[in-house]
Parts: sequence; C-alpha cells; structure tokens
Amino acid sequence: MKNAVIYYSKLGHSKKIAQAIANELGVKAQDIRENPEIKDMDQLYIVSGIYGGVSAPQLLEFLKTLDGQKIKRAYLLTSAGGKTTRAAKVRSVLTELGIPVAEEEFTCQGAIFLFGMGHPNKADIQNAIHFVQSVSQ
Ligand SMILES: Cc1cc2nc3c(=O)[nH]c(=O)nc-3n(C[C@H](O)[C@H](O)[C@H](O)COP(=O)(O)O)c2cc1C
Repeated sequence: MKNAVIYYSKLGHSKKIAQAIANELGVKAQDIRENPEIKDMDQLYIVSGIYGGVSAPQLLEFLKTLDGQKIKRAYLLTSAGGKTTRAAKVRSVLTELGIPVAEEEFTCQGAIFLFGMGHPNKADIQNAIHFVQSVSQ
C-alpha cells in the first residue's frame, strides 16, 4: 500500500498531526509549500486547518495540480479553532479531479486566540493516529 501525507499549516498544528500520522504510516509528512510530487498513491492523507471559515487557497491550488487518475483514495484530517469544521472545499476540489474522498473525516480542536488553547493536544494526536489506523487497514 503506497501512502502519502501532505499538509498546509499556518500555526504548526497540521504539521504536528501530519508528522504523527506519517510516522505511523512509515512515510515523511510533506509540506505542500515545497510542492511535493504526489503520484501513484493508494492513499493520500491531507491535513489542514480552517482559516476565515475555509481551507487555505494555497492548499486548494496545490490540490488542483494533482493527477486524479494516480490517486486511489484521499482522507481528510482537519483542525479548527471554532466548532467542528470540515474541509468542504478540499473535498470538492478532489471530487472534481475524480479522486474518491472518504466520507469519514478526522476533525479536531485547533486553537485561535484563547479558543482551544493547547490543542491539538496529546489526545487529539492519538485520535488522529487511531483514525489512520482504522482507515488504513
Ligand atoms: C489566520 C487564521 C484564521 C483562522 N480562522 C479560523 C476560522 O475561521 N474558523 C476556525 O474555526 N478556526 C480558525 N482558525 C484556527 C485554525 O483553524 C486552527 O488553529 C488550526 O488548528 C490551524 O491549523 P495550522 O496550525 O495547521 O495552521 C484560524 C487561524 C488562523 C491563524
């Protein structure tokens, strides 16, 4: 099974989650700002935060460059400072490319100002690892 973990992170939360799940999968977490080459993947894990209510435009633009034929399935892991928020635009970009996206999305508390301070914490990271273990079998 060929896996890749990519992330976009402004405050470091997604990077932390991505590194933990990449370690679990035995791969390296890749920052989309370094323009990683992603092809011939069975499973692509995309880790990101929510900014101004939506996913980062940089992430969406990067995803649009992927070859939909070369990625069998994508999984989303999203953190946000407010209430549970899913990466809806990421999902729709991938769907337009023809990449199946797992309906189940890992979401966890991030932080913004005083909201969610200390998150993602150890338990959040552990939950992300459990999510990956449950979908990667
Ligand atoms: C500029 C900025 C805007 C944000 N806007 C929102 C928002 O609209 N809704 C929300 O729930 N969280 C918002 N957050 C909180 C982030 O989604 C949360 O901290 C997330 O974990 C950040 O992930 P990152 O550290 O990987 O960038 C914002 C954070 C930043 C820095």
